[in-house]
Amino acid sequence: MVGTADRNTEVAGVEGGVGLTALMVAAARAIETHRRDSLARDVYAEHFVLAAPAAAGWPVRIQQVPDGDANPLWGRFARYFGLRTRVLDDFLLRSVHAGARQVVLLGAGLDSRAFRLDWPAGCVIFEMDREGVLAFKHDVLDGLSAVPKAARVCVPIDLRADWVAALTDAGFDAAAPSVWLAEGLLFYLPSIAETSLIDTVDRLSARGSALAFEAKLERNLLDYRDSPIYTSTRNQIGIDLLDLFSREPRPDSAGELAGKGWSTSVHTPFDFTRWHGRGPLPESNDALAGNRWVFADKPRP
Ligand SMILES: C[S@@+](CC[C@H](N)C(=O)[O-])C[C@H]1O[C@@H](n2cnc3c(N)ncnc32)[C@H](O)[C@@H]1O
Repeated sequence: MVGTADRNTEVAGVEGGVGLTALMVAAARAIETHRRDSLARDVYAEHFVLAAPAAAGWPVRIQQVPDGDANPLWGRFARYFGLRTRVLDDFLLRSVHAGARQVVLLGAGLDSRAFRLDWPAGCVIFEMDREGVLAFKHDVLDGLSAVPKAARVCVPIDLRADWVAALTDAGFDAAAPSVWLAEGLLFYLPSIAETSLIDTVDRLSARGSALAFEAKLERNLLDYRDSPIYTSTRNQIGIDLLDLFSREPRPDSAGELAGKGWSTSVHTPFDFTRWHGRGPLPESNDALAGNRWVFADKPRP
């Protein structure tokens, strides 16, 4: 049997394994971008999809999906990613306007925030992901002559290893406040790597820093194996998310941070659907039921 670690390293780029999930999220952002009531706009997202042979035939607009919003993958799940993008855009911008100037995107994938958000002067965006994913992203953005709206530093790394030296060698300053994002990342990592990542973020975070991450609380992920989201993702684009997720019991990362003095708040995505007036709402046999978005601040003295 292939373990999570092996599944993660099988394919280094976006053509398979966990890297392909970055393309799936890009397709969702492209669809969201073209909605009349879009929650987030990412004009780069469709270019990643169109450039990747692995995404051949994937939609970049909801009109290209025969059953439209009734499609669990390109309708409800894509809207989930649109909502997540918006909520975490808002978190990052709020955090930099509160003073942090270093932004670290952990498992950045095809996130184009460095290019599309209006960052205050002096911001630097560190993008950490595996080399093959960042290389694909570079090629596409380079082909578009895209210009980042802040200093941007790519840090190719496997986040299951020790990544402190890679980040500090890239110019990260642990003495200055920072804002961290782990969006759609932690559940792919072995439990011990998540614990170590959270501990590292704490160690590298000066007071005044902030972190947001996404977690899944289900005790047994397989309870939702037949949910519409997992089934359609498997059948329509060949991504078996449950095969990519770590099946180990998850650490209580929000609790860990609270124990280290961070103030934390934990939300369901549905809280934000209600806030924005659009997005996914709970349903039965719901693969999103255990998803939580956690926001943490390391208070100033
Ligand atoms: C679902 S994608 C999310 C990407 C991005 N955060 C977003 O929301 O668009 C998951 C990302 O995590 C990255 N990832 C997963 N395991 C990783 C690891 N061990 N080291 C570095 N990156 C990893 C994948 O390469 C992929 O880009």
